[in-house]
Amino acid sequence: MKYTTILFDLDGTLTRSEKGITRSALYAAEKLGFTGYTEEQFKAFIGPPLFASFKSICGMTDEQADLAVTAYRERFSTIGWAENEVYTGIPLLLRSLKKNGAKIAMATAKPQVFAERIAKKFGLAPYLDALVGPDFAVKHASKADIVKKAAELLGGVPVMIGDRCYDIEGGRANGIDTIGVCYGYGTREELEAAGATQIAATVEELTNMLLGDAPRAGGVFLSMEGMDGCGKTTQLGALVEHLEQLGWDVQLTREPGGDAIAEKIRSLVLDPANKTMFDETEAYLYAASRAQNVRALIRPALEAGRAVVCDRFVDSSIAYQGGGRRLGSDEIAALNRLAVGDTLPDVTVYLRMPPERALSRRLSASEPDRLEREKSSFFERTYQAYEALFGQENMARVAAVDASQSIGDVTREMLAAVDERLFTL
Ligand code: TYD
Repeated sequence: MKYTTILFDLDGTLTRSEKGITRSALYAAEKLGFTGYTEEQFKAFIGPPLFASFKSICGMTDEQADLAVTAYRERFSTIGWAENEVYTGIPLLLRSLKKNGAKIAMATAKPQVFAERIAKKFGLAPYLDALVGPDFAVKHASKADIVKKAAELLGGVPVMIGDRCYDIEGGRANGIDTIGVCYGYGTREELEAAGATQIAATVEELTNMLLGDAPRAGGVFLSMEGMDGCGKTTQLGALVEHLEQLGWDVQLTREPGGDAIAEKIRSLVLDPANKTMFDETEAYLYAASRAQNVRALIRPALEAGRAVVCDRFVDSSIAYQGGGRRLGSDEIAALNRLAVGDTLPDVTVYLRMPPERALSRRLSASEPDRLEREKSSFFERTYQAYEALFGQENMARVAAVDASQSIGDVTREMLAAVDERLFTL
């Protein structure tokens, strides 16, 4: 790697923060009587110091711009800061840089308190060796000073990466190399005119520029478990959306199923007509579907650095076949070892719901499949097997959530529990 000390700007470089910024600027302008602007027009607020933007874009006086900055921060500190998303590919880039021993700092013109909050909420904080932003009271932060401080904190020969001329000029003022990224809020022309050493059009290009031939980090593997009817489908959607907001390229898959062959096994195993299927046959079919899915879809996605979200995995077999069918948890775990090898989830969401409640919800939704036509004692045993499995001490990967709460509460609790595990991987 050419650079091992890396300074990143935040807005437009690590995160797409336009909603929070433009809406907070609109709020502030309107409060001072500057009305009729659109979110599109206010995109120019992203990057440069706010004080200067209120003057140049709205034609405010110094006093008005001062008041506008205060009003902006009023909304930004409560709502705007979370209206944000990490660019796709950034977590993989940061993880890969760390894997290769790089030191990373965030050097931003955003007040440090907000930058810290964003870094924490969006999973950037674990990768940062330093985070430098202006003090909250400073209204005219100079990027050159921020870059200088961040570079001093990290040592080494740094490169400054940013999407606006201010970032490039801030780097150049300190005599260091710069990379301009044009997927953010500046243009290639702006970055070239400012004298960027190199320009990256996409996160992928930036990744190749920084890493060269150095090895990339792998992806993350998440699974979702629970009784039929526990609300898995709804929460899976929320989980995928959340991971995308954190900058992950998500591969969603399900078990039994996955690629075309695994989906055929799914039809076979769930077909209500297959009444004479033996329990052992069923256990092998689930494992066979899994063996196929792991090799065809899951491993390639993990190798490409994606976040794999799997609707059910080995834990389902342990619960349903091991517990429900009474084939034994250890036996089912052993039977699945050849199917999955060392491809196991990093994080597992367990939506906990007692079987009577889950099943009555499930059966009112649509036609039951073969498994769902089972007697209630089958589901009771399945539930008990889940509880025994996830109650074990070595189950730190499991984020268990009470699924009887409202959808919104389950989502909130689930995402907090997922983040807690994901951010330490
Ligand atoms: P699922 O796809 O969650 O059900 P739905 O189609 O209703 O969303 O799972 C299908 C059924 O397969 C479910 O009843 C659980 C069962 N199952 C097992 O018994 N063992 C397994 O290993 C897996 C993955 C699923």
